[in-house]
Amino acid sequence: MTETGGGAPPSPGKVLFGKYEMGRLLGRGASAKVYHARHCASGLGVAVKVFPNPRRPAGCSAAGDSFIREISALRRLRHPHIVRLHEVLASRSKVYLVLELAKGGELFSRVEERGHLPEDLCRRLFRQLVSAVAYSHSRGVFHRDLKPENLLLDEAGDLKVSDFGFAALRSSSSSSADGDDGDLLLHTQCGTPAYVAPEVLTKKMTGGYDGAKADMWSCGVILFVLNAGYLPFNDPNLMSLYRKIYRGYHRCPRWTSPNLRRLIARLLDPNPATRISVDGILRDPWFAKDFDADQWTALMQPRGDATDPSGKPHHRRELNAFDLISFSPGLDLSPLFEEATSDRERFALAEPVDSIVDRLEQVGRAQGLAVRREGENGFCAVVEGQKGDFLLRVEVYPLTASLTVVAIERSGGAGESLWNEKLGPALRGPVNLALETPSFITEAERIHDATGSSME
Ligand code: ADE
Repeated sequence: MTETGGGAPPSPGKVLFGKYEMGRLLGRGASAKVYHARHCASGLGVAVKVFPNPRRPAGCSAAGDSFIREISALRRLRHPHIVRLHEVLASRSKVYLVLELAKGGELFSRVEERGHLPEDLCRRLFRQLVSAVAYSHSRGVFHRDLKPENLLLDEAGDLKVSDFGFAALRSSSSSSADGDDGDLLLHTQCGTPAYVAPEVLTKKMTGGYDGAKADMWSCGVILFVLNAGYLPFNDPNLMSLYRKIYRGYHRCPRWTSPNLRRLIARLLDPNPATRISVDGILRDPWFAKDFDADQWTALMQPRGDATDPSGKPHHRRELNAFDLISFSPGLDLSPLFEEATSDRERFALAEPVDSIVDRLEQVGRAQGLAVRREGENGFCAVVEGQKGDFLLRVEVYPLTASLTVVAIERSGGAGESLWNEKLGPALRGPVNLALETPSFITEAERIHDATGSSME
């Protein structure tokens, strides 16, 4: 992180939302600052990324766009080599991302200290990087700003990919990665020039680029830097730098082994169509040396829900101010987080949590479905079809004693009619307040005002 962000810094020792004691500044970027903090309940360290001015509409400020991208991306990702998002908090003037703390700092500093890294260490870190990038791609997330400054290390020296503020997300209902306009190719020029793929520079002429292949190029630049200790393409003149990137001409240092040279050349192939893909990397002799295929398969598995810093799942949290902001039509951020899909729904009910979940249990069981509660207070219920062909996840957030927000996520096509005919109507129950009704908004705004003012 290099440039300056805005907003008054949280002073060290200040306790944020009664939960996190703020510490020293860890880094700063174009749109945010990152602070060390301590989760008061568990004593564990976290990183808190502070974005100023969440009220500015997306696109009007670097922060406006990047915190939404980062939250959207990290909410989809749970991987040992990707910084975990524990929680999102918000006040009237700031959004706070509570992130897993990478205690070892930036990988870049490690390379600078040591000049360059030994080949076996390059292989270990590169494998971790490729596992994180391949997993992200499989979840429809394209990082677009991979560089050593965004690669952190934990206390064991293992890699953590961070900073998804430039990420593009493929909508869950299509195969396109549309950070911008919904077709198969990306159009926004992102990233740091020295790490950017040639087709990203020329996208205007070629009509877009493939986010996965562009990330692979950046992985190639990173692998080169780890091994060499310097950049493959470098020039103080931006135009000359672009020309070098476009030609893909690079020279490995003399200590680079022939197999590593070959892999770097396949990654730094200026033609994205012939550039090596993740599948190709897995078969590459340098990468595949002593490769543990089972470990790789385990790394690619989708994982469970977000947890707080002490590892407790977040199923039963109260709505926080951020949720209230995003539920408010005056500043509805939710469409920006995920594409609207028919298998997600959110509505409010003028009923307490328990009676809603009780009703779901009764109706579900009457239909022969397995219904189980999750979370200490049973604020989440999961309904499963008998053959595992239908999964409904219902999260209920108590807004007030009598007002509850219900968030539904369905998967498995088999449940469509079951949902439409039985579970949906039963769940909506006697009184369904659409989120747009003035009474709900007034209530939400009242709470937001009350919480917002005490959270600054
Ligand atoms: N700098 C930026 N993000 C960080 C994190 N999650 N942990 C440690 N330092 C960071």
